[in-house]
Amino acid sequence: MESLIAKLEQERTLSREELKAVLSSDTACLHERAFAVTTRVFGSAVYARGLIEFTNICRNDCYYCGIRRSNSQIPRYRMSVDEILAICSDGYARGFRTFVLQGGEGECVERLCEIVTRIKADFPDCAVTLSVGELSRGCLKRLKAAGTDRYLLRQETVVERLYSAIHPPQMSLGSRLSCLRDLKELGFQTGCGFMIGVPGQTLDDIVEDLLFVKAFDPEMVGIGPFLPHAQTPFADSPAGDLRLTLNAVSITRLMKPSVLLPATTAVESLAANGRQSAILAGANVIMPNLTTAALREKYQLYDGKAFATLEEISRQMSEIGREIVMTRGDYKERLP
Ligand code: 5AD
Repeated sequence: MESLIAKLEQERTLSREELKAVLSSDTACLHERAFAVTTRVFGSAVYARGLIEFTNICRNDCYYCGIRRSNSQIPRYRMSVDEILAICSDGYARGFRTFVLQGGEGECVERLCEIVTRIKADFPDCAVTLSVGELSRGCLKRLKAAGTDRYLLRQETVVERLYSAIHPPQMSLGSRLSCLRDLKELGFQTGCGFMIGVPGQTLDDIVEDLLFVKAFDPEMVGIGPFLPHAQTPFADSPAGDLRLTLNAVSITRLMKPSVLLPATTAVESLAANGRQSAILAGANVIMPNLTTAALREKYQLYDGKAFATLEEISRQMSEIGREIVMTRGDYKERLP
């Protein structure tokens, strides 16, 4: 196994069979190598992004997601532009220089443009990241023109069979991938990603997603465990596996040394110290939640969502010899 991991580090890819072996391995060596590569590329710096969950209204009905349209048991909200700016203002004073606006799908593009324009006007030295689902190329163009720097859109899975098992028939893998291509072509720093352990997923499926990440060459990759939500069709499905999740993070780091890779909230929600484990496995971004407490509770993609303040996360990072850096932390191709 150690020689396979060394080969992955050197050649930055492996065959499907080899990747599957590394993915399912149980060796500290994989995480240690990924951590060492991260340190060579980024030093001890971990970038911070302020997450704002600005609406839980969603037109989609993904079988895994707690804010799916069919969930009639949650109160829906949409922050006003002034509310969003007040959160940014508070976040700016605390040092944040990236704001990630995440919300359900279906927000109108005019309002999104207004939000981005106003954040960029008030905080010109900040990066704005959107995570609002699939949009047409025309809408994405307008969002880029309004000043959006980055865009997160997880592919969820590139395996057709699995994609259609976890999404309603109105959604298609083809349109998701074409949106990802648009994002890159339009010049966004683009993030893709996937869940580990979503019902029906096999190790081979995860390998396909890892190879997609390699080929797509995104600036950011979000990887987290699937966690069940009581008001979804997958309520009784088991959560994703921690080791597999960390292994996928490490493989991604070894394939793409300079990629921005968050220690996701889902991994911290799955296991105590999950955030630290993800950093030790090669993640280099944290995303403290800036959403007001009352609204945060209504933004539950899964049950048991973890919450920690910047100060708490900062302590977790210094325990493992990492230091939170509050700069924009843009993607740069860096030599390992
Ligand atoms: N468990 C873990 N992650 C989830 N997401 C949505 N629902 C869940 C869940 N039940 C992830 C998806 C989505 C991102 C915003 O959150 O990958 O792209």
